[in-house]
Amino acid sequence: MMEESLLELQDVRVHFPAGYNWRGKPNAFVHALNGLDLRIMRGETLGIVGESGCGKSTLAQLLMGLQTPSSGRLLRIRQDGSWFGSGMQMVFQDPQSSLDPRLPVWRIITEPVYVQKHNSAAERRALAAELAAQVGIRAGYLDRLPHEFSGGQRQRISIARALSSEPDIIVLDEPTSALDISVQAQILNLLVALQRQRNLTFVLISHNVSVIRHMSDRVAVMYLGQIVELGPAQRVLGQPQHPYTRLLLDSVPRVGRSLAEGQADRKSELPSNRHLPQGCFFRERCPYAGAGCQLPQELRLNASGTSVRCHRV
Ligand SMILES: Nc1ncnc2c1ncn2[C@@H]1O[C@H](COP(=O)(O)OP(=O)(O)OP(=O)(O)O)[C@@H](O)[C@H]1O
Ligand SMILES: [Mg+2]
Repeated sequence: MMEESLLELQDVRVHFPAGYNWRGKPNAFVHALNGLDLRIMRGETLGIVGESGCGKSTLAQLLMGLQTPSSGRLLRIRQDGSWFGSGMQMVFQDPQSSLDPRLPVWRIITEPVYVQKHNSAAERRALAAELAAQVGIRAGYLDRLPHEFSGGQRQRISIARALSSEPDIIVLDEPTSALDISVQAQILNLLVALQRQRNLTFVLISHNVSVIRHMSDRVAVMYLGQIVELGPAQRVLGQPQHPYTRLLLDSVPRVGRSLAEGQADRKSELPSNRHLPQGCFFRERCPYAGAGCQLPQELRLNASGTSVRCHRV
């Protein structure tokens, strides 16, 4: 299979002002992303895992063009103006708040297309009916409002909306975390089926390792705004090499338990992203920390095909 890169991040950093001096100039920053290098390949599902606050949603916003890098570069294969409208779409955790409560479903589904092209209402209705059928929403429901649907159905509507502009990449930020377990599986299976039919590319953000395992071709593990391990999902989750990936997976003793819950009972806390640690970011929590760890670590490809940010691996 030809590997086609859709999007590439080169040493991307994102800082948010977090405090101001008396002149109103920022004098403190939250360092949300601290040197991300990443490629997204056509047709893959790239899973993103990491603790709360490690920068997953900031990455999603960056990919969507809702956030600009403070430094570094974001390269896209398509440079025409339509990219952000049609090239990228997003499905959020909470379909309740991401769907406009006043709009009938057919209009919600075709919102991305409405913004781009000035199609007739009849054309948009026909498109909505086609997409609704693909995600399992009955055509007879197209005039209903979002509150008339269950959580799972609303997420199906969000997915139909994301598909309407035929995007190259769909960013899924915790797409099933707000849903009941039984509904979660249905939505994930729907996503897998749609991906096969349409050769979709997914960036899947989740706290839930079993969701990531079920869905992902590759996995990126994030820690304090950096990728610490990146590679084929089976390898990264099956034979984790970075001490942080091991800690993260250890903290998920039962299948289906979320990372957030797993992390909560740990004593060691994520260091502040206001003052980044010197050297390896994970040094303070790492059971193997020693000589060499006081130096900044690079993400290096190793013989087993994964990239790891640790000089000891
Ligand atoms: N607009 C903003 N202004 C200031 N700080 C922000 C902003 N957005 C995010 N942050 C901070 O950047 C860091 C990364 O946040 P982000 O939302 O990307 O984390 P996350 O990995 O998505 O976390 P979660 O798993 O809880 O969703 C956090 O410390 C957060 O408080
Ligand atoms: Mg988030």
